[in-house]
Amino acid sequence: MHSILITTLFLVVAPFSTAAPAPLSLTRKDTALTEAQIVQIAPTSENCDNPPAKGECATAHTAAKFASQSFDQYKVTNKAEQAAVLAIMAYESGDFKYNKNHYPGIPGQGTRNMQSAAFNKKYIASIPALRESSARVADDAAALLELLLENETYDFGSGAWFLTTQCTDEVRKALQSGSEAGWQSYITQCVGTSASGDRKAYWDRAVKALGA
Ligand SMILES: *[C@@H]1O[C@H](CO)[C@@H](O)[C@H](O)[C@H]1NC(C)=O
Repeated sequence: MHSILITTLFLVVAPFSTAAPAPLSLTRKDTALTEAQIVQIAPTSENCDNPPAKGECATAHTAAKFASQSFDQYKVTNKAEQAAVLAIMAYESGDFKYNKNHYPGIPGQGTRNMQSAAFNKKYIASIPALRESSARVADDAAALLELLLENETYDFGSGAWFLTTQCTDEVRKALQSGSEAGWQSYITQCVGTSASGDRKAYWDRAVKALGA
């Protein structure tokens, strides 16, 4: 028993540093999302056992890390906005089991908020590190999506990118108030879909998980 425990600890610690690491709680900002919050929002995201689509599933642990990173990068600090974006991502990706559209299978539609190819093209254009490789694949929507999916930073960054670049100030202000009407206008006026009961269930859980 004892030796198994030591081995496990070593494996967890080794990739980061050979010196004694600081506890995670000291190295991460206290605004970072936790795995538990993600599981609360996306109840089946605890693990990726038997994933329905090969290579697409991400665990709550991974989602927490990269969604937090995206909120830092795009300066989405308001909790109501964070809740709305996380709810979209969790709903659209089937609790983070998918990052490509499968039903019906529209080429180029994907990333964790399952945005359409036209938005993925704009999103890629905003990422300097992808300039060269995206020029090589030109207008091939499926290939452009693959570029985004190769890096979790981009895969999980689309929700915050979309909110901060594609929604009007008016929509964001209403959303930031935390009201249900604000959430509805974000869904109907910016995301461009209907504020269905299924979506609202994700949003309700996200508001609760974040204390928004
Ligand atoms: C993913 O993209 C980020 C931002 O451009 C970069 O810092 C990071 O090194 C990339 N990760 C991999 C695995 O390429």
